[in-house]
Formats: sequence, C-alpha cells, structure tokens
Amino acid sequence: MNLTPENLIREHWARQPEARSEADKALLIEEIRQLLRQEDAVIVAHYYTDPEIQALAEETGGCVADSLEMARFGHDHPASTLLVAGVRFMGETAKILSPEKRILMPTLEATCSLDIGCPVESFSEFCDQHPDRTVVVYANTSAAVKARADWVVTSSIALDVVNHIKEQGQKLIWAPDKHLGSYVERETGADMLLWDSACIVHDEFRAKGVEDLKKVYPDAAILVHPESPEAVVKLADVVGSTSQLIAAARDLPNDTLIVATDKAIFYKMQQAATGKLLIEAPTAGNGATCRSCAHCPWMAMNALDNIRDVLKSGDQEILIDESVRQKAVVSLQRMLNFNKPVTAA
Ligand code: 13P
Ligand code: SF4
Repeated sequence: MNLTPENLIREHWARQPEARSEADKALLIEEIRQLLRQEDAVIVAHYYTDPEIQALAEETGGCVADSLEMARFGHDHPASTLLVAGVRFMGETAKILSPEKRILMPTLEATCSLDIGCPVESFSEFCDQHPDRTVVVYANTSAAVKARADWVVTSSIALDVVNHIKEQGQKLIWAPDKHLGSYVERETGADMLLWDSACIVHDEFRAKGVEDLKKVYPDAAILVHPESPEAVVKLADVVGSTSQLIAAARDLPNDTLIVATDKAIFYKMQQAATGKLLIEAPTAGNGATCRSCAHCPWMAMNALDNIRDVLKSGDQEILIDESVRQKAVVSLQRMLNFNKPVTAA
C-alpha cells in the first residue's frame, strides 16, 4: 500500500477493534513481559500510544512520556534493548543518543507528517541559501535533518532555546512545523524563517468548534498543543507540550478541561487530574476535513501484537548511518544539555 497520510488514516479507521477475549489479552501481555526480561528490553512509550501500551510500559518499569523525556529515559536506562512505542523519529532519536543499544519499534512504518514534510535535500538547500541563520529543527524530523541542524528542540523547550539563541543576537531558520514556529516567533520576538509543514492531527483543530464548546462549558480551561493553528492557540489558557498539558490539567483549579491534542493523552491526563472532566476539542468545525479526528494514525500503528512480534523476531530495528549519527548527536545533545526537566504525572 502507498503510505500516504490519507491511505493510512483510511486504513486505520476502517480497522475493526480486535476481537480478543480478556483471557487472550492477559496471555499476550504475559508473553510480552517474559520477552522483555529475556531480551533485556524496556518499553519507552509516548502519551499518544494506545492506553493498553501505556499501561504495559508503566507496569514493566518502562516509561510513558513526551518526546523529550523519552529521549532522556532511553539514554539513561541500563537495558540493552529499547522498545520504542511511538513514531520513527523517536526511535531514531534513541539510536542517535545510544548507538550501543538495540532500538526496536513495533513497526518502522510509523512516521510523522512533519518528518515527511521536511526532506533533507530540499531542507539543506534552504539552509544553504541562508548561511547567516542558526538552524533549529523540531525533534519530529529524520536523523539526516537533525544532522544538518545546529539545534534540535521539542515543544517542551522550544521557547527557552529560541530565547537563548535570540539573546546571542542570532537569527533563525525553523523547521518543520509552521504553527509551532509561528507560536515561538510570537512569544519570543525572534527573527525566524519558517519551513512550511504541519502536523495532520493538530492542524485539524478549529477555533470555531472550541469557542462553541466553551459556550457549553463556560468554566472550562482550554489546553492546547502548539502544533495547533494560531486561532486555536489564541483561545488557550495553557499552551504546552504533552507533559506540560498533563501538568496543567493536574494543577489548574478548573474541574473541566477542553483539550486540543491527540486524545490518547487522556489516559495519563485523567490519572493526573483525577475526577476532572476532560473533553476533546472538536476537529470538525466548518470547513474542517477531520483527516485524523484527534488521533495520530502513525501512533495508532503501535499495538500489543506487533510489540510481541518484534521482541521475538528482532526485525523492525532502527539503524542509522554512523556519519549521519555523529553529526545529529551534536544538535540533539545540545538540547539535552540545555533542558530543564518537566514533571508530568
Ligand atoms: P511532545 O514533544 O509534546 O511529546 O509532542 C510530540 C508530538 O509528536 C506531538 O504531536
Ligand atoms: Fe507527527 Fe502529528 Fe503524529 Fe505528532 S501527532 S507524531 S506531530 S503526525
């Protein structure tokens, strides 16, 4: 099948829920536990993976985190194999930081529209045209794009890093997410040239839908991931990375929260904000196409079955050319050295 976002989404939403009894699921989970021990492996999962994967990661001593903390955890954990449940750039980040470890993913086909939207050849050409600018790329990029960059950032620390670069008197190139880039530009006042790409999940949130919902729940706080369009970000009480949104859900006094990010985050957010009402921000306002309906189709490719299969077979391993890795690790390590940790749930 041609792996366009449209095809993947169609296939994902056409998929019927698996007909598996609770007893069969318990057996499968036990098999994964044994394989994790046998392979000296640990699960490093993102908040957007299915709740059953997040629960398994927690129960088996792995982590459920945002992309920055996944990178940190994988790097610091003593296991010789990391099973990265997320999308490809997260597995690649783990490999760049820990080349001695075996990095497996449930499927190497789980990519990201931002990664697809920023091919290294055209991005390098763009950078070459602006040699006076510091190149900052979002973590949601290929290893080759990271290798071309001066800095890698995640949404957790984008504002801090760009403020720091601005204080050095430098102008920036920012890639690939135009919404996150324009948010950072507005907040910091830095001089930024933006690459034109977007996340197909967050790009679907609509201000009109959020405003209508707020009329129904006037006491609700609005939490927005900065990959969302500017009109949605402007309605937010809190704008932040996945970890920052979970922390805000816990700390805000509001009992009702409207959340504009992938809905799989509700598993951890509900644990952190016990008893609060969490509502998905609408994606289908006037003119919206709802290509994703607030769940990343690539994150949804991670499942218990392919976790078991890859632990058994060892295929779906992330491998990166060593010369690319050696360059990419410089910009990634710069981020990790800079970072102040964010505490979620
Ligand atoms: P975080 O860095 O907030 O985890 O976001 C990653 C991502 O892919 C958001 O769509
Ligand atoms: Fe990429 Fe968007 Fe999926 Fe995050 S939610 S992995 S940015 S496509």
